[in-house]
Amino acid sequence: MSSGSDLSRLEEILLNEVAEAADLSALEAVRVSALGKKGRVSELMTTLGKLPPEERKGFGATVNTLKSKISDALDARRTTLEAAALSARLANEREDVTLPVRMGPELQGRIHPVSQVLDECIEIFADLGFEVAEGPDIETDELNFTKLNIPAEHPARQEHDTFYFHPKPDGSRLLLRTHTSPVQIRAMQSRKPPIRIIAPGRVYRCDSDQTHTPMFHQIEGLVIDEATHMGHLKWVLEEFAKAFFEVDNVTMRFRASHFPFTEPSMEVDIDASAIGKPGQWLEILGCGMVHPNVLANCGLDPEKYQGFAFGMGLDRITMLKYGLPDLRAFFSADLRWLRHYGFSLLDQPTLGGGLST
Ligand code: DAH
Repeated sequence: MSSGSDLSRLEEILLNEVAEAADLSALEAVRVSALGKKGRVSELMTTLGKLPPEERKGFGATVNTLKSKISDALDARRTTLEAAALSARLANEREDVTLPVRMGPELQGRIHPVSQVLDECIEIFADLGFEVAEGPDIETDELNFTKLNIPAEHPARQEHDTFYFHPKPDGSRLLLRTHTSPVQIRAMQSRKPPIRIIAPGRVYRCDSDQTHTPMFHQIEGLVIDEATHMGHLKWVLEEFAKAFFEVDNVTMRFRASHFPFTEPSMEVDIDASAIGKPGQWLEILGCGMVHPNVLANCGLDPEKYQGFAFGMGLDRITMLKYGLPDLRAFFSADLRWLRHYGFSLLDQPTLGGGLST
């Protein structure tokens, strides 16, 4: 049974513990050991029932007073400790709000220059009314060569250093497409004229040096209608070159050439003053009027329909526009190269907002 002096002794001890609690968790420990279910003050209450009835009231009131004293002391100490903890945080946690915002992942990522140039080309040709068409990287001999007027034993087959798959039992062979031109065939077989498509994609040739890699990118163009002529071809290519190199004028040179799928065929050079290198001609693409045999191979009447096609090296025009010297670096997956030459994800090329700015 606790006497009055025991109680005041306990009060002194508890108040002292409260005063000495150095932080909030120490204070919580004191609270539990005093006022918790099995705390020293709470346990006093359990002794109440053993007292003679006349003492119960007085004892209960005294314990309650003790309880509220301790509880008040705990609250006061908590307020002090919380204020001290806050001051310590304020003193330690300093932010320099003048520092630039740290780059999040969306700003650290970079668009590969070829992807950027592809988006630029799509934007330009879409504005000229072209649709994007696609074909598979693994093609048949038929679509990559035969239908394009390159029959078996034609020397052009040797010019394309083709990656072939093993022949099938029927003798036919699949291959990695050597150019995007088979998409012309797919387009002519699957839609009715007027046809106006571009077909960007990967192409493969067994070739490797500073300007050749076994995989590279082309963009094919095809326009088929009843009265399409070479003037249209020239105009489209000039509009493209001006928009792409972001200049008011581009001088182009059309050189007679030969491709089995066009007649006549031309290679096109641009005067490199457009990219700040006057006095040089740079080849950018091959083109021509679609060969009547190719139209016929796709079920189109060459007496009724005609059109033009072109094929451009995407990696090549990327190197020209952005001054990148070594094609192999494009595909070496070197993050430092990509961080240096890559484009921001948030900079979508648009004709209205600027292609490359
Ligand atoms: N397919 C040709 C190549 O890879 C490029 C080409 C030339 C495509 C003339 C065409 C074209 O559509 O008309 O070398």
